[in-house]
Parts: sequence; C-alpha cells; structure tokens
Amino acid sequence: MSTPAQYFAEMYRDSDDPWRLAERWYERRKYALTMAALPRERYRDAFEPACSVGVLTRLLADRCDRLLSCDRVPRAVDAARRRVAGLAHATVEQRVLPAQWPTDRRFDLVVLSEMLYYFSPDEERTLLDQATASLEPQGTLVAVHWRHPVDDHAQTGDEAHRVLRSVPGLARVAAHEEPDFLLEVFARSSRPGADPRSLSVAALEGLV
Ligand SMILES: C[S@@+](CC[C@H](N)C(=O)[O-])C[C@H]1O[C@@H](n2cnc3c(N)ncnc32)[C@H](O)[C@@H]1O
Repeated sequence: MSTPAQYFAEMYRDSDDPWRLAERWYERRKYALTMAALPRERYRDAFEPACSVGVLTRLLADRCDRLLSCDRVPRAVDAARRRVAGLAHATVEQRVLPAQWPTDRRFDLVVLSEMLYYFSPDEERTLLDQATASLEPQGTLVAVHWRHPVDDHAQTGDEAHRVLRSVPGLARVAAHEEPDFLLEVFARSSRPGADPRSLSVAALEGLV
C-alpha cells in the first residue's frame, strides 16, 4: 500500500518544513550532488513532482528555461511558490500523483527526489511509466532517495531504485551510492539495450 494522504497532511500540520530541508547541511550537500549529477548544463522543460517546500526547486530554476514543480499538500505548494516568487519560468501547482501527472507535456528533465518510496511497487511502476513516456529522447531522469527504513514509507529507497532500474526505455548513465542515499541518473533511450556510453556527457558534448 502507498503511504496515505493523511501522513503528509499531518507532517505539514505543525510545520512549514517538516523535514527541515532548508536548514540541514545533509540536504544542502545532497542537493548540490543532485545538481552536479545532471548531465546537461541547461534544460528546456523540467518536471519536479513532490517538491515539498521548494528548496531543490529553486536550484533547478537556475538550470531550466521552464520548470513545473508540484506537491500534494497546499502548505508545501505555498512555501515552494514563495521560494520561486519572481521567477516567471517556474510554476508550482498542487497535484496528486500518479493521477495528476501532466500527461499532455513533454520534458527533457524529470526529477524524482525523495518521493518514490511512498508508492507501492505497482503504483511506482505506473508513475515511472508516466515519467518515461513524458521524457523526450535522451531526456534525463534523476532519482535520489534515503536508504534507511522508515515505518511510514511503502518501500525503502533501495527497493524503489530496484524497481526504477527495471523500467524499459531508461538507460543508467550515472550512479552515486552512500550509506544514507542513492543517486542515479538515467537517459531516455529509444533503442532497448542501447550502450549508455552513447548517452554520456562527453558524447553529448561531441568529445567522443
Ligand atoms: C520528503 S519530501 C521531498 C521533497 C523534495 N522532493 C526534496 O527532495 O527536497 C516528500 C514530498 O512528497 C510529497 N508527496 C508525497 N506523495 C505525493 C503524491 N502522491 N503526489 C504529490 N506529492 C506527493 C509530500 O507532500 C512531500 O512534500
């Protein structure tokens, strides 16, 4: 079973930033690693589901011509909107996934940060199929997740990344592993079994 809506409503009831994403060095460092792992310097159109209070949103806004971020909880959406206020290319909406995935849009970047473990494996697969279908050829999907077990999570980060690695149409181009989190970068690959080296940063830059 996926983590119920009630859990998130309660997390935000008493706090603007229940995970203290804006304060902790742990988070700042992880966001910096996530941003550094993105293969392209700039993205045309990015989607960041489950953005919480918008700390990563603000960093992504500097690398994207257009950015859509969303969260299911209105208080989180308000906080994220405040963080990107004045940036006309960044939009934050209230959406519940996977039901409200923006299926009418195509993205060259999808950012799945600290959210896949809330979904049951079946629901995660639905969400990842949507993500893959909405990625342009060679578009980037980045995923980063906490590895320690949490009672209210439907899966661990490792389990969620195992499901992610089995999705057809995604070729892994980078991975970073620590005791606390996994960070993996995938490229949308139209050819099954395509050599990930053909999607490398050097290949994109014409160096190889
Ligand atoms: C731990 S925070 C992650 C924040 C952000 N992605 C980051 O890495 O800083 C998880 C967020 O996911 C949101 N969320 C969980 N399930 C969701 C769903 N089904 N649809 C949209 N948002 C969801 C929660 O409301 C919460 O704000």
